[in-house]
Amino acid sequence: MTLLAIETSCDETSVAVVRDGKVLSGIVSSQIKLHAEYGGVVPELAAREHLRNLIPVAQSALRTAGISVGQLDAVAATQGPGLPNALLVGFKAAQAAAFALNKPFVGINHHEAHLYSPWIVRGGDSLVADFTVFQPNVSLIVSGGHTMLVLVQSELKHRMLGGTIDDAAGECFDKTGKLMSLPYPAGPLIDQLAEQGNPAAFDFPRPLLHDASDDFSFSGLKTSVRYFIRDHPALLNDRKKICDLCASVQVAIVEVLVKKTIRAAKRNGVRCVTASGGVTCNRALRHELTRACECEGIALRLAEKSLCTDNAAMIGILAERKLLANVPLPPLDEEIKPGWVLA
Ligand code: KG4
Ligand code: ZN
Repeated sequence: MTLLAIETSCDETSVAVVRDGKVLSGIVSSQIKLHAEYGGVVPELAAREHLRNLIPVAQSALRTAGISVGQLDAVAATQGPGLPNALLVGFKAAQAAAFALNKPFVGINHHEAHLYSPWIVRGGDSLVADFTVFQPNVSLIVSGGHTMLVLVQSELKHRMLGGTIDDAAGECFDKTGKLMSLPYPAGPLIDQLAEQGNPAAFDFPRPLLHDASDDFSFSGLKTSVRYFIRDHPALLNDRKKICDLCASVQVAIVEVLVKKTIRAAKRNGVRCVTASGGVTCNRALRHELTRACECEGIALRLAEKSLCTDNAAMIGILAERKLLANVPLPPLDEEIKPGWVLA
């Protein structure tokens, strides 16, 4: 089965061609530079950029895959959650393509796609979804907009365990970075600077670490960094101190993410943990999750770095699984679901 998949939920215009579990092509056009000027994603600009980029990115994905539109068996797109106008661009284009080709259309929940992205692995020079080795797992999704723990009992069956009640982990990286005058998005830079810093230099709170729920909260941590910088303004003139600050903030975020994920896995009796979303690129998080899982004898699957951030390949892979499982498809005039919460 050959599918064209489109992802435009936020600031990445991405199109992929997927065939029989294999990612034939996955093109991502990032808008990070455009939004950096404004210190965050500007929804209206994002939608306009998607409009500008979608057709060239789709053409490039088809060309790279060596597939013509006549060879497509289905078209898929992210239906939600995401920025309404951004979602509309990819979703309506995909529906129109499915209509014109008279092929099935699959609307995908962006977070559900993240749940299965860690099962897409590098085989030779391509990415292939391998569900033959699927294990029930607890999946951590950590991005700029979301932090959540989901129990994935079997393929296409999951239950939300907890989410963030305020800022997402990526947002916490970005906002604390902004307090340190780092450019947006600060997450990758904090990751780099933290390498040269001492994580025990400053003590920041680990919000909800000992709370019984699987929920997260990071706004208190951000506020405590704000007060700390207010009280020690000279610190920002010292590169070593900035590195210490980055390492101290990062260790607090990572500790909460890792401990709560492992605890959720143990409580739910699963022997596998997966992680995806932009923050999964963070080296300390990858390292600490690996260490904790080894300690507990839990299998760990981290999404491939190129699939951590938003991409259409994961949308296409999930859409294909849904088609193979004969999941009922939405009608072609179905609308986007910007606030679609994972059940
Ligand atoms: O999944 P993603 O591309 O998308 C959205 O939420 O839209 O994630 C982006 C987030 C940003 O907050 C960024 O700062 C964070 O992921 N991020 C990182 C790293 N790379 C990306 N945070 C910490 N360390 C990193 N290496
Ligand atoms: Zn995402």
